[in-house]
Amino acid sequence: MRYTRDMYIAILGRQPELSLAELERLFGGVDTISPQAALFDTSSTVDIQQLGGSQKIGRLIGELPLRDWRSTSMSLVRQIEKLWSSKSGKLTLGISAYGFDVDVRDIQKTGLILKSKLKSADRSVRLVPNQTPELSTATAHHNKLGLSENKIELLVIRGTNGIYVAESLGSQNITALAARDQNRPKRDAFVGMLPPKLALMMINMAGLPPEHGHNPRLLDPFCGTGVTLQEALIRGYSVYGTDLSDKMIDYSRQNLDWLTSQFNVEHKDYKLETGDAMTHRWQSPVDLVVAEGYLGQPFSAPPSPKKLQEVRDNCQHIISQFLVNLRSQIDAGTPVVLAVPAWRDAQGGFTHLPLSGSVSQYGYKNVGVRATNRSRLLYYRPDQIVARELLILKAE
Ligand SMILES: C[S@@+](CC[C@H](N)C(=O)[O-])C[C@H]1O[C@@H](n2cnc3c(N)ncnc32)[C@H](O)[C@@H]1O
Repeated sequence: MRYTRDMYIAILGRQPELSLAELERLFGGVDTISPQAALFDTSSTVDIQQLGGSQKIGRLIGELPLRDWRSTSMSLVRQIEKLWSSKSGKLTLGISAYGFDVDVRDIQKTGLILKSKLKSADRSVRLVPNQTPELSTATAHHNKLGLSENKIELLVIRGTNGIYVAESLGSQNITALAARDQNRPKRDAFVGMLPPKLALMMINMAGLPPEHGHNPRLLDPFCGTGVTLQEALIRGYSVYGTDLSDKMIDYSRQNLDWLTSQFNVEHKDYKLETGDAMTHRWQSPVDLVVAEGYLGQPFSAPPSPKKLQEVRDNCQHIISQFLVNLRSQIDAGTPVVLAVPAWRDAQGGFTHLPLSGSVSQYGYKNVGVRATNRSRLLYYRPDQIVARELLILKAE
């Protein structure tokens, strides 16, 4: 086994191309090692709670040649036994195998062998039972795996070119994410429910993370109930939200007041005002813009061609006018990440907004994402007609 420093493994989320885009914009180069996992190196701190698109993050501790689980398991036990001989106290151990054609019982067996080896070296071990070859994010999170020296989760990933072994540094805190989503005082099904994970991914896709003592100001000009603002505030940004509707500004305010009273938010700097994104004059500074733009009405079945054209024209008008208005007020180089609508038809094809393919005429350029070969980044649930297309732009 070869040991490498400062290399990290990310277990990607439900839509891996979005997770990859997020990682690349934050950390630079990212290698896709399997359909579910990516490898990257960085000298920055890696904190899973600051990522929307990764389920788990681990520090790479070694690589093994491409073999089946049995042979992998043998090398693993040998190496891990050596590696952990210096750990003291009771250990909690979980094993997650990704990409192996293996029965859950074989994973448990590896755990039991490791347990008995460590026991004979006077280490007591509690094994976290697997329901599937990989421990779910919920199980890993509830067992606090990766969060302290003695609570360990091994991530074993069968990649295209080799097997990667990592020690988890934690899983996504799904309890806190759900609380931020469901317990906030004001929600509104009609303006939509931007999932906090997606909001966090979009914020990170801007590629301008807060640093110690520096809290860039993030503008959301279609802030609605304030999901983007919430996630940005907790991530350490100063936030500025505007919306056409007084009611939405009131909702955002109540949600942000609640957030800052319930969660540990160090930098409580938020500003909210009513304004039409097509004409509003924002106060500087605006360091980055992240928004879920107007998506038109929700549909439960594909709309008629006439209806679709009407909604599409309306969204195109509002968002393109907004882009023009915004461009005259921000500096060149300012990152702008937008979710705009794309409509799914019965055949699984999409109708896009014209502006999504021609941002240069509004004074922006598309920031390419190398880690994914998808020409478009789309977020949708299987039953949704209105998908969100993510545009990662920079003012030119
Ligand atoms: C899809 S929702 C955004 C929801 C938001 N992400 C949230 O967390 O609730 C779009 C928002 O755009 C607002 N809106 C529509 N047209 C607008 C315009 N011309 N200027 C500003 N806001 C507008 C709506 O009031 C709505 O709150």
